[in-house]
Amino acid sequence: MKIGLFDSGIGGISVLKKLTYINGAHYIYIADTERAPYGLRTSEALESFVWEFVDFFHKKKVNEIFAACNTTDSIILENNLDLVIKYNSIIRAGVSAAKSSKVGVIGTNVTIKNGSYRRYLEVEGKEVYQKATQLFVSLVEEGVFYGRMVEAIANYYLLPLKKENVKELILGCTHFPFLKGIISRVLPKVRIIDPAEELSKLLVKNNTRRPFVEFYVTGDPKEFERKLKRINFRVAYTINKFKIRK
Ligand code: SIN
Repeated sequence: MKIGLFDSGIGGISVLKKLTYINGAHYIYIADTERAPYGLRTSEALESFVWEFVDFFHKKKVNEIFAACNTTDSIILENNLDLVIKYNSIIRAGVSAAKSSKVGVIGTNVTIKNGSYRRYLEVEGKEVYQKATQLFVSLVEEGVFYGRMVEAIANYYLLPLKKENVKELILGCTHFPFLKGIISRVLPKVRIIDPAEELSKLLVKNNTRRPFVEFYVTGDPKEFERKLKRINFRVAYTINKFKIRK
């Protein structure tokens, strides 16, 4: 079984890790490091990236696509592309994991502006507090997960959510689980939701094979490999260059 995922960089690894833990499949992961960060891109650009990757997955005869990026997922949902693209949505997974009535959502500028989480949560009668925390993406890409600078940025972004007394916080960007430690320290009483946990439940458990990952990187493959090492990625893999469509 072949499973396709894509993200602007290292963030989607937080999803990939959860999937490979459950299922020993063959994964194809596109890291669009050349055009990162996605949170600063226009909707039109992001939609064209989505089609580029979906075409690639079809050529590679991928059986299932899992969203490894909330930003592009919000573009898919807001443009109703989910009617034509068959994939498993991380945003819908995150929404289904929320159980309380007061939910905070953090994400990239695009995800928060699109408001997909807000819309789906409000349909379920929840009070929603959103906050764009775009700088978190850069911290994770740089491999900076703790320290005084991270604490200052986390306080700046998250203290307004603490004041609103949210009961749960959805990590609406796949980069953010790498900062879960500091996020829980700023919001100690809040249940932190990583939508990837819910998403991975959609996979059938199959531990009979060792997982394998084919990475396709639009930017520098060596730089990407350095990042994988930094986060201790241990699944067997190859790294290939992905040629961006001109
Ligand atoms: C990004 O890839 O730039 C953001 C990832 C996300 O929104 O989940």
